[in-house]
Amino acid sequence: MDQLRNKTAIITGGNSGIGYATATEFLAKGARVLITGRNPGAVQRAVHALGFPAEGLTADQSKLEDTKKLAEYVRSRYGKIDILFINAGIAKFAPFEGVTTEMFDEIIDINFKGAFFTAQQLLPLLNDGGSIVFLSAINAYAGMPGTTVLAASKAALNATARTLARELAPRKIRVNVINAGPVDTPLIEKIGVSHEEAGAIRSKMTASIPLGRLGEATEVASLVSFLVSDEARFITGGEYTIDGGLMVHPGIS
Ligand SMILES: NC(=O)c1ccc[n+]([C@@H]2O[C@H](COP(=O)([O-])OP(=O)(O)OC[C@H]3O[C@@H](n4cnc5c(N)ncnc54)[C@H](OP(=O)(O)O)[C@@H]3O)[C@@H](O)[C@H]2O)c1
Repeated sequence: MDQLRNKTAIITGGNSGIGYATATEFLAKGARVLITGRNPGAVQRAVHALGFPAEGLTADQSKLEDTKKLAEYVRSRYGKIDILFINAGIAKFAPFEGVTTEMFDEIIDINFKGAFFTAQQLLPLLNDGGSIVFLSAINAYAGMPGTTVLAASKAALNATARTLARELAPRKIRVNVINAGPVDTPLIEKIGVSHEEAGAIRSKMTASIPLGRLGEATEVASLVSFLVSDEARFITGGEYTIDGGLMVHPGIS
């Protein structure tokens, strides 16, 4: 269990859900881990729960000044890093006609623009041979009503990652994307629905997943952990779907 020994990893949005589960797995495999999040209390609590050598920094992925502050902190604290998991993201839903410019900007600023410039700011600190993973969603391809902006924000990440894989190949930096399906994390509650409504959404999603359940954050963490490891050393520019079979065509039976 020391596949990531002597590796330093940055995880954006690591105080909750998939980011937190991945921090746990990276630490178990011997890495040093820095997580970010917007809420100082949540970041601090997560660092405490993760234990040494986890660290945290409050940084809003949608704010370039925070991202620059993160890069400066990482440079002074670690010098170089080996793994960048760009995971922070939000979900918001609205029919096309109901999308406001505020909603559009909020989703794009965090999920795409913020992710893009986080990679750009931290890239000079990434060792040659390092690894970047972006957390995207099956929404990039699913055509799910109510997700025009969310889907576009994630599809933009996928396009960026594919291109970046080519640009960074000379430095042997690998860039991959995970297209997650429904995963049981606090994300659903954060879209502003009641506990009961969140339960109903979970049940509806579960009913359409061939494997009959939602994914677990630890299952996505295992995939991230594989992609950043030496076992995946010939894998770059790839997209990996983890969705219990949801994207297999439901109309053919
Ligand atoms: N759960 C799913 O079904 C699912 C499906 C497909 C894709 N995903 C993707 O998976 C990623 C992780 O989501 P999750 O399901 O683990 O949800 P989560 O538990 O809500 O975790 C999201 C993390 O991102 C952080 N975050 C959000 N906005 C941020 C910002 N502007 N700056 C810094 N940190 C920010 C959150 O921290 P704070 O809010 O405390 O700042 C939290 O740590 C997201 O990119 C999401 O789009 C999730």
